Amino acid sequence: MGLKHLGIAASVCLGAAATGAAAFIALATPKSQPAAAVRVQPTPERIERGRYLFHQLADCAGCHSPRDPAKFAMIADPARTGAGFVFPDELGFPGRIVAPNITPDPGTGIGRWTDGEKIRAIREGISRDGRALFAFMPFRQFAKLSDEDIHSLVAYLNSLPPVRNALPRTALRFPVNILSRFEPEPVLAPPKPPGPADRVRYGELLAGMACIECHTELDNGRLVAGREFAGGHEFAVGAFVARSANLTPDVETGIGGWTEERFVRRFRDYGNLAYANAPRAVQANFTVMPWYGFAHMKEDDLRAIYAYLRSLRPVYNPVAHHPQLAVQSN
Ligand code: HEC
Ligand code: HEC
Repeated sequence: MGLKHLGIAASVCLGAAATGAAAFIALATPKSQPAAAVRVQPTPERIERGRYLFHQLADCAGCHSPRDPAKFAMIADPARTGAGFVFPDELGFPGRIVAPNITPDPGTGIGRWTDGEKIRAIREGISRDGRALFAFMPFRQFAKLSDEDIHSLVAYLNSLPPVRNALPRTALRFPVNILSRFEPEPVLAPPKPPGPADRVRYGELLAGMACIECHTELDNGRLVAGREFAGGHEFAVGAFVARSANLTPDVETGIGGWTEERFVRRFRDYGNLAYANAPRAVQANFTVMPWYGFAHMKEDDLRAIYAYLRSLRPVYNPVAHHPQLAVQSN
C-alpha cells in the first residue's frame, strides 16, 4: 500500500472511531432517570425555608434574575425575581450561558413543569427535555441537600409571581458541550446532609453551595484542583473588573488574620442596602458577590462557613480585588 492509501485508510478508521465515540456519548450521556411523580405540598414552613434557600444560601435569585450592572453588586430587580439572566459575554464563559426563567410563567418559565421535573433539574442537572444542564448551575452541590430542602425550594418556586420573559438557550462551545454531558448524576437515595451541630461539615455544605464556584479559578468551566477557595477568579462586566478574594486561612493573602466577628460584620455591613437605595457601580466598588442576599444569612450559617474556611489548607495567593484598570490610550 502506498503512503497515500495508508493515509486514506487511517482517516477512514479515525472517522469511524470518532463517529462511534459520538454515538456512544449521545447514547450513554447524560445519565438520568425519569422525573419522580411527586407533588410538593406548599406548607408555610416550606415556603419560608425555600425563600431563605432561594435568596440567601443557594442564591438561586442571584443567577436566575435580571441584574443591573449599573448598580452596586449588580443587584437584581425584586419585581423580576427568577425571570432569568443572560450572563454577560465578558465573563469569559465557554459559550452563551443563560440561567433560564424559573418563574411559573407557562410560556417562558417553568409553569408547565411537574414538581418532579423541577426536582430533577435542581439536583440532577437534567432539563425537562432530558438535556444536560451546564454545571455552572450547581446541581452537584444541590444534590447534597435533604429532600425536605429540595421540596421547600420547589414550594417557593411555585409561589413566585409569574414573569413573562423569553430568553435564548445556553449554547456551549466544544469541548465543554461534550464534557457537560458527563456531569449529571441521578440521586438514587435520600441524601443525609450534616446538620448545623456538625459545624465544619455543615459549613462545607453551605460554602460548596454558595461560595466555591466564584472563589476558585476555573479552567474550561471546571474548578482548578488545589485552588479551591483561593480566589482570583476574574469577573469583567462592561468597563469594570473584580477578582474574588482568597478565602483560605493564609494569613497574608487570605482570611487567616480575620476573627469570626470581622467575618460576620463584613456581611452584615450590607444589611441596609436594597434595590431602591443601591449605590451606583464604579470600578472601586464593582463586584458580583451577592452581598445583598448574604447580608441576611443566618448568623449560625455564616459562622459555620467561617469554621469550615478556617479548616482549609492555607493557599498563598495575593489577589487585587479591584485592579486599577489600564488607561486606554487610543
Ligand atoms: C451560579 C449560577 C446559578 C445558581 C446559583 C443557580 N442556577 Fe439554576 N441554572 C443556572 C444556569 C446557567 C442554568 C442553565 C444551564 C443550561 O442551560 O445548560 C440553570 C438551570 C436551572 C433550571 C433548569 C431550567 C430549564 O429551563 O432547563 C432550574 C429549574 C434551575 N436552574 C433552578 C435553580 C434553583 C432552584 C437554584 C437554587 C437552589 C438555582 N437554579 C441556582 C445557573 C444557576
Ligand atoms: C458570584 C460570585 C461570588 C459568590 C457566589 C461569592 N463571592 Fe465572595 N467575592 C466575590 C468577588 C468578585 C469578591 C471581590 C469583590 C468584593 O469585595 O466584593 C468577593 C469578596 C468576598 C469577600 C471580601 C474579602 C475582603 O478581603 O474584603 C468575602 C469575605 C467573601 N467574598 C466571602 C464569600 C463567601 C463566604 C461566599 C459564600 C457564602 C461568597 N463570597 C460567594 C465573588 C463571589
